[in-house]
Amino acid sequence: MKKILFILGPNLNMVGIRHKEVYGTQTAESINEEVKAQAEQLGLELEIYQSNHEGDIIDKIHSAYGNKDGIMINAGALTHYSYALRDAIEAVRIPTVETHMSNVYAREQFRHESVISPVCAGSIAGFGKTSYYLGLCALLKILEK
Ligand code: DQA
Repeated sequence: MKKILFILGPNLNMVGIRHKEVYGTQTAESINEEVKAQAEQLGLELEIYQSNHEGDIIDKIHSAYGNKDGIMINAGALTHYSYALRDAIEAVRIPTVETHMSNVYAREQFRHESVISPVCAGSIAGFGKTSYYLGLCALLKILEK
């Protein structure tokens, strides 16, 4: 069974409470449960990790080295400026899929740039929680090869 690490960055624990017009009303915990069940159906072993701290997320990515087959990440706002996060993803060389619930390109200008995209296999944005299901499907395809 392929092992996937799903990382959720800053403020993503507040989904269901924050900015409901953008992220919906379903709680982060309940979305996580759904994603876990979907991963199981796809035959993937999923670990979910959420942190509001850049350094902790980087440590978690490092700990995936040699232990995980793929990473799915919604880095939240770190997406747009964290070169440290970018370098961590590049360092471990684990296939990584970038995901976003919202369509970042339809929002503020600062969300249009992702500094992690160049070191990710691809990115999925704009489908709400379904972005995560699509991200898992993408990882499955990548890891089948
Ligand atoms: C987000 C988009 C980011 O711009 C934002 O900072 C988030 C969530 C998304 O899932 O749409 O925290 O990554």
